[in-house]
Amino acid sequence: SETTNPGAEAGAGPVRTRAALASRTLRTDRWWLSPLFTTLGLTAFVVYATIRSFMREGYWDAEYHYLTPFYSPCLSESCVPGSSHFGTPIGELPSFIPLAFLSLPFLLLFRITCYYYRKAYYRSVWFAPPACAVAEPHARYTGETRLPLIVQNVHRYFFYVAFVITVINTYDAVVAFDGQRGFGIGLGNIILLVNVFFLWCYTLSCHSCRHVTGGRLKHFSKHPVRYWIWTQVSKLNVRHMQFAWITLGTLVLTDLYVWLVSTDTIPDLRLFN
Ligand code: FES
Repeated sequence: SETTNPGAEAGAGPVRTRAALASRTLRTDRWWLSPLFTTLGLTAFVVYATIRSFMREGYWDAEYHYLTPFYSPCLSESCVPGSSHFGTPIGELPSFIPLAFLSLPFLLLFRITCYYYRKAYYRSVWFAPPACAVAEPHARYTGETRLPLIVQNVHRYFFYVAFVITVINTYDAVVAFDGQRGFGIGLGNIILLVNVFFLWCYTLSCHSCRHVTGGRLKHFSKHPVRYWIWTQVSKLNVRHMQFAWITLGTLVLTDLYVWLVSTDTIPDLRLFN
């Protein structure tokens, strides 16, 4: 809640301050559910992804050529044979370095600086504020205008890298149709495809992508192609939050499936060959 300070100096304009409330909020609904679920969801993903990224097993199925996105691209000589779709220009890596060390940091930074995730963790983890009409515990608010949060502005550059990595993930999904016995289709192929489909939805619905396609134009009428692309990206953009969560789910599901199939814990459900 805000109120106008009647003691404001004449000519200086109204000074906005919070209403003097004894309690942190007057809300009586369960406003804390959303930040709670957000924190649990993000934490679960980070824990799972961190453990899997360091495991170094169950990331490549030699029979059906499924590669989990958590190990793509696998460019080191430490990668199991067959999993390196782009060769092994990097030598052996010590076990404390994830095999996808070239892509994972950028994907992490892409998501950390994402406009939606920023909103999510500012509210649920940093309580700034935790919900509408619930006072935050911090005395000062400087936003993203100075260090360290001004660094969030580099998000647009991570978008370019994420775009390339999504191309690589797509390549992984396509070449997975060519298994040890030639062309075939299994449930794993469908899961890999669904995952890259949503990765594209998430990547292309990025606010930076919207700016790249249609930003800094004075006249849309003079750039019909860019205007059309911008229109399509804008349609995706309104669902960016949903894609942010769906892709966390499809990434875990894809990795889990590849893990279970490649370790012979479950058989791959084959639809063809
Ligand atoms: Fe979310 Fe760019 S990925 S805004």
